[in-house]
Amino acid sequence: MSSPSDVLVRGSGLVKHYPTREPGLRGAKGAIKAVDGVDLHLARGECLALVGESGCGKSTLASLLTHLEPPTGGSIEVNGSRWGKDRRTDRQIRRQIQIVLQDPYSALNPRMTIEQILTEPLRIHSDLVPARDHSRRVTELLEMVGLNDSHRHRYPHEFSGGQRQRICIARALAVTPRILVCDEPLSALDVSVQGQILELFRDLRERLGLSYVFISHDLAVVRSIADRVAVMYLGRIVEQGPTEEIYERPRHPYTRALLSSAPVTDPAVRETRERIVLTGEVPSPANPPSGCAFRTRCWLATDECATTVPVLEPVFQGHEAACLLLGDH
Ligand SMILES: Nc1ncnc2c1ncn2[C@@H]1O[C@H](COP(=O)(O)OP(=O)(O)OP(=O)(O)O)[C@@H](O)[C@H]1O
Ligand SMILES: [Mg+2]
Repeated sequence: MSSPSDVLVRGSGLVKHYPTREPGLRGAKGAIKAVDGVDLHLARGECLALVGESGCGKSTLASLLTHLEPPTGGSIEVNGSRWGKDRRTDRQIRRQIQIVLQDPYSALNPRMTIEQILTEPLRIHSDLVPARDHSRRVTELLEMVGLNDSHRHRYPHEFSGGQRQRICIARALAVTPRILVCDEPLSALDVSVQGQILELFRDLRERLGLSYVFISHDLAVVRSIADRVAVMYLGRIVEQGPTEEIYERPRHPYTRALLSSAPVTDPAVRETRERIVLTGEVPSPANPPSGCAFRTRCWLATDECATTVPVLEPVFQGHEAACLLLGDH
């Protein structure tokens, strides 16, 4: 386990509810509970993966961690400072935690050259690198992400998807962050390019000592890069722990189902592994089930699961799961 000083990011009691109006209820206000009570931490140098089906709140959590949106409840500390404390602190934090998004096509201004794109964050955080050194810093950033210095005068449309993602990564690195939050950074890329960008993330982690929050629906990628995995279901973390521990000994029924649906190439493993097919839709986060939110799709659910909300309980050395039936299966 990591000691408190090793913790770079700590989210406590994080909640993000998006208000809705439901006309059927005479205009009464409801809420989409996108993130609904998440505690998480990221240790220095660590890669924490967030996994879970579409709509479970991964991107919302990423935008809370990077303060693109304020949480409805709870707080986030980055390297000991609290997001939202005051403008000065927020500026300091913003340098330390940067986001890389899925779509490198829409993320870059088509009218700016690569040099302008990479210089912009240096201008915003003007006390970081003196203006006379901006050009040298651009060279450094391009080299860091495996692009040629001669590319600096080109425009985004002159680059492939993989190269554009490299530019997005260089832009995120311009302010020398300690943490990158990567929200499906490979999903928009050709499969052949995905491996190269993954390798770049690995290389940067080694060279710069970066820590990652890595969101991906590709469970093989997660296994290859993450030290720890947090599994989300309807706005909550239902299981988390060291990667191999989660993959080898998943305890929450949802994690077992999620892992069993991942494609396996090794025929021997395919023969022996558990196969669970989840039935039913993911319930709406505007109206989640009472008790355990997973109970409506859980083949083990009992009456108690409808009335008691399970909390994360320790299973084994840093491995925790939120299921009332942990002792029974
Ligand atoms: N700005 C918003 N206003 C209202 N609802 C939102 C908003 N952003 C997200 N949601 C809802 O919050 C829930 C969580 O969405 P989020 O994008 O965080 O999920 P996700 O896990 O990233 O999904 P995916 O794997 O598809 O990217 C979804 O039900 C989504 O429709
Ligand atoms: Mg998302």
